[in-house]
Amino acid sequence: MKDDNFLREMNARHLWHPMGHPGEAQTNTPKIIKGAEGVRITDIDGHNPVDAVGGLWCVNLGYSNDAIKQAIADQLWQLPYYSAFAGSTNPAAIEASYAVQDFFAQDGMTRVFFTSGGSDSVDTALRMARQYHRLRGEPTRTKFLSLKKGYHGTHWGGASVNGNNRFRIGYEPMLPGCFHLPSPYTYRNPFDETDPAKLAEKIATAMVDEIEFQDPSTIAAFIMEPIQGAGGVIVPDASFMKHMRAICDRYGILMISDEVITGFGRTGDWSGARHWGVQPDLMTIAKGITSGYFPVGGVLVGDKVAEVFESAGPEGSIWTGYTYSAHPVGAAAVVACLSETLRLDTRTNAAARGTQLYEGVLKLARKHDIIGDVRGGHGLMTGIEIVSDKAHKTPMDAASMKRIHQATYEAGAMVRLGAHNILMSPPLTISEDEVNVILTALDAGFAAA
Ligand SMILES: Cc1ncc(COP(=O)(O)O)c(C=O)c1O
Repeated sequence: MKDDNFLREMNARHLWHPMGHPGEAQTNTPKIIKGAEGVRITDIDGHNPVDAVGGLWCVNLGYSNDAIKQAIADQLWQLPYYSAFAGSTNPAAIEASYAVQDFFAQDGMTRVFFTSGGSDSVDTALRMARQYHRLRGEPTRTKFLSLKKGYHGTHWGGASVNGNNRFRIGYEPMLPGCFHLPSPYTYRNPFDETDPAKLAEKIATAMVDEIEFQDPSTIAAFIMEPIQGAGGVIVPDASFMKHMRAICDRYGILMISDEVITGFGRTGDWSGARHWGVQPDLMTIAKGITSGYFPVGGVLVGDKVAEVFESAGPEGSIWTGYTYSAHPVGAAAVVACLSETLRLDTRTNAAARGTQLYEGVLKLARKHDIIGDVRGGHGLMTGIEIVSDKAHKTPMDAASMKRIHQATYEAGAMVRLGAHNILMSPPLTISEDEVNVILTALDAGFAAA
């Protein structure tokens, strides 16, 4: 292993980081994480905080799951790679397809198309939606609806339906025909509506209005996260996704539930759609599918869509895919991860610990005036919106946010910043004591601001 100063210097010289300014890493070395155990990570400076980020919303089973590690190692010796493009497959991928569809059977999902991650999955799902309508004889259905504040990855399709302009403006023009509805964000919305159920109804009305304006026969799909993650952990009213489902049904629009974060137990149920009592037509998954141990994603397809493809002529062929789709090592990780997820019943712990974390942060909000809004309470996703002036909801400046982040880190918890929000999505295996460590560290972090 190279010495620490060498690592810092080489990172500054050669490594460009996703979602960051290349110059920033040259002057301000990122935390170099060299190891992890349980729910804690270790950096080269000797810090050993609880990872309240879960890697990047993905390390659902913590860092020490031997079953997944062993499955990956065994598969590497058995078959390290073979393509799953039409004409060949592999036993691990077949086993993984069964395990995944079984996991999501209650959501009405019966087929899986494997990808290498969430962005791939979103892009594939959007393509499938257009092709589905074309196969059904409605080729004019090409447009997509989505929500502001949504995050759907960074490929052109996903970035086009993303609802945060930070991920768009440097790269415009985006895909034409993508339209955004207001987010179910009670703290700030164009209706000044603070009642979540009323806000859900207003967005439903706006959706109908937009569909009528665009002409329903031009719209292919609506994509949403059951709980918006990267946009700030925005938890809608329990009625919201049901309203969206009903409108999609009324106008023949496919509903894509982007479960890249919310799938696999994070909301306290095995999918976010199930948490809200909704069955989508397509689901996009990644992250928790391997607990982050191997890059895998997928699109889940329900019978309604699958039957249209399977009964079509040659035009039903799917002309998209990835070299690493159904990668045997990834597939082995999927099988082990799903088996462990069920064995550990992580959704039950996510619900209990999520409530503990949310209620703990609500208590901190009574103590620290800089906390403008606290969102969570539905599994292990918690968002804290930091303001410099509570009465005017003025977003906290970036320098203060960095100070809070660093002080929290030094006090024992790694959290994530999303603009002036603190985002948390710890491993679903976290204990009561470890949640308390996060809360104590946050208290110190807020005090430092
Ligand atoms: C809801 C959602 N969709 C898609 C993505 C993109 O996934 P990936 O980063 O694996 O491409 C993310 C990533 O955070 C996500 O949160």
